Amino acid sequence: MEPSELLSSFDQYDPAHVQVMHEVLAHARRECPVFHTTAEPGYWVVSRYADAKRILFDTAAFSNRNGVTVHGVGEPRPLPAAADPPLHKQYRDILRPYFTQQAIRAHEPELRKLAQQLMEPWLSTGEVEFVKDYAAKLAYAALFAVFLRSSGAEDIDLFVAGADRIVQESTQDAYAQLMGLVRQLLARRRSSGVEINDMIGAVELGSVDGRPLTEDEKVGMIFSAVAAGFETNYATMALIMHQVVRHPELETRIQGPDWASGHLAEFLRFVSPVTGLIRTVTRDTEIGGVALRAGDTVLVHYASVDRDEAQFPQADTLDFARPNSGQHMAFSFGVHRCLGAPFAEFLIGIGLEELTRRATGFRLRDPELDVPYTTGVVCRPEALPLTFELR
Ligand code: HEM
Repeated sequence: MEPSELLSSFDQYDPAHVQVMHEVLAHARRECPVFHTTAEPGYWVVSRYADAKRILFDTAAFSNRNGVTVHGVGEPRPLPAAADPPLHKQYRDILRPYFTQQAIRAHEPELRKLAQQLMEPWLSTGEVEFVKDYAAKLAYAALFAVFLRSSGAEDIDLFVAGADRIVQESTQDAYAQLMGLVRQLLARRRSSGVEINDMIGAVELGSVDGRPLTEDEKVGMIFSAVAAGFETNYATMALIMHQVVRHPELETRIQGPDWASGHLAEFLRFVSPVTGLIRTVTRDTEIGGVALRAGDTVLVHYASVDRDEAQFPQADTLDFARPNSGQHMAFSFGVHRCLGAPFAEFLIGIGLEELTRRATGFRLRDPELDVPYTTGVVCRPEALPLTFELR
């Protein structure tokens, strides 16, 4: 099927569409930059950088009130993701102190140790399934260590399964399942009677509009950190590693203590792991020459806007000398720009630096293997069985 024929039914959750996503969206950017799809529940897709930027900075006309994934969120609502200004800032300010560069860097020794420990079981074998046995374990263990300290490692498998469903299905049932786990985590923390000065503690004591947070608001805020911070992080490591095994000369780009400050922005632009998130139109308006009505849904397609030639010439090429890689939208823009970005950049930096300090020459175990990708909000290699040599 030609890319143009897929537009009218283009579906973030359909594996056949995801496989040709970049061709379809390149066609859209050229011919019909804002297009309508009949994929459930019916929405507009915004493919160009300039249009996306306008939407993300206009929170009055483009609201987060219905959440950021196409099937809606139900109650409790993920916060601050599903809130609009001015309340949005009050929620975000409660979490913010735990997400600063300084707060994150204080965990460096612990995070490096985690990475080193996770490598021990397989390092000497020269083989690893990189996604499951390194990237995912590191992302989960780090998130629990930094933000959910009191909750206990026994939860990790349950949380992994719950968070995977959010990004791969985004159904209300998936939201309800993970919200339930967060409720249990809070209950256990309370019954332990331990007072810890961490993100959960801040949420417990938090207030907005001069009143304490409700139980649903607390659950929604902890949920956001969990749901937004698991798969995004390990998907990014997996997407970068997939580029490295396809183009071995890229390995030097993920080596050494400074690799992330030099090269991660361009990798993020190129792989843009969160494919697209929605906004709800609050009043009749126009974008890219298309009339939108109050109540319409628009999907801002980050993976598309990060390949927009008008913003990034030769956008389909990884170019580490590109002067504006840092303007990528992998973390979105505006008031909802990813709160976890400093943590993500730090962990991905450490994770690949520690690995490439001990190992080199990464290849797919079966060079003929066609690597399947997941679908949904985050598209990543399902698995990467690799071989490598010890340094
Ligand atoms: C490379 C990894 C990551 C990527 C690509 C990513 C991407 C994004 C994007 C695109 C948004 C914007 C949502 C919107 O447009 O409405 C976002 C928001 C958010 N992210 Fe991340 N994220 C990553 C890692 C993390 C991590 C590790 C955490 C937490 C530990 C996190 C927590 C959040 C939160 C709480 C929000 C909501 C912010 C708000 O609405 O004000 N993210 N992220």
